[in-house]
Amino acid sequence: MELIDKIQKLKKERRAVILVHNYQIPEVQDIADFVGDSLELSIKASQTDAEVIVFCGVHFMAETAKILSPLKTVLLPDKNSGCPMADMISAEELRALKAKHPGAKVMCYVNTSAEVKAECDLCCTSANAVRMAQEVLKDAEEIIFVPDKYLAAFVANKTGREFITWPGFCPTHAKILPEHVEAARARHPGAVVMVHPECRPEVAAIADMVISTGGMSRYAKETPAREIIVGTEPGIIHRLKKENPDKIFHPISDEVICPNMKRTTLEKVLWSLEDMQHVIEVPEPIAERARRAIETMLKVGR
Ligand code: 13P
Ligand code: SF4
Repeated sequence: MELIDKIQKLKKERRAVILVHNYQIPEVQDIADFVGDSLELSIKASQTDAEVIVFCGVHFMAETAKILSPLKTVLLPDKNSGCPMADMISAEELRALKAKHPGAKVMCYVNTSAEVKAECDLCCTSANAVRMAQEVLKDAEEIIFVPDKYLAAFVANKTGREFITWPGFCPTHAKILPEHVEAARARHPGAVVMVHPECRPEVAAIADMVISTGGMSRYAKETPAREIIVGTEPGIIHRLKKENPDKIFHPISDEVICPNMKRTTLEKVLWSLEDMQHVIEVPEPIAERARRAIETMLKVGR
């Protein structure tokens, strides 16, 4: 039997749903029940009535799914798919930062461990960070925003708010430099440039749009431009092409690969369903506190 048929058969038997992030390899995207950005995947994970969630993404995303669906079995096909940015801050480091700013509200990017989320008042994704700062934290006098210094700079620029930040960043998006934007524009005159808010401020400043991967999917459909330069992990181009067969997408550079997002393969998805591995667990006292921060975000939405 074909690999894909085996996955589909086992998925039914296990009553499983396959959630896939926009950066995953094309073959994995093609077997998904749902492909989306971090926020959309969190919402799906909280709403599904499946018994098992196979999360094709990185560890913090599967952990977020487990926090929102504690009674479901959440599986990460490759147990080493982590996020270096999420690993840049520990709960202990955040507690030390909070001790220096006892009155501050604490917002964390979803790219953090469950332990870090448990220390926060509010979680956000790149799709809704601006709204979280403007709406939920509108009365806060001081705001700690961890761990992404570039996302914090983007939100500060959009909202006029100041943040106490942490020197974290995404090593994949940090590879995009202003000269890549300029070179891509020179190669493709007339193309629009969309970049992710995890990019450096000097890159965000010269892009036409700064948006989450879910936002990129919507923008690509709406823009009258026929050619689009994609300033994020190029895994998303598979989806963009499928959704917009009449448009042309150019990766901003060939170096913007997230190695962790590429660890998941069809074989690993099958083994994950066969062996029910790798089970993601979050101790309930941590999950309960982290859930509050995530649910506060989900109430506001995008
Ligand atoms: P979004 O899918 O929320 O845009 O985030 C991108 C990312 O880097 C996920 O790790
Ligand atoms: Fe983490 Fe960056 Fe990879 Fe996203 S693209 S999972 S932020 S390393």
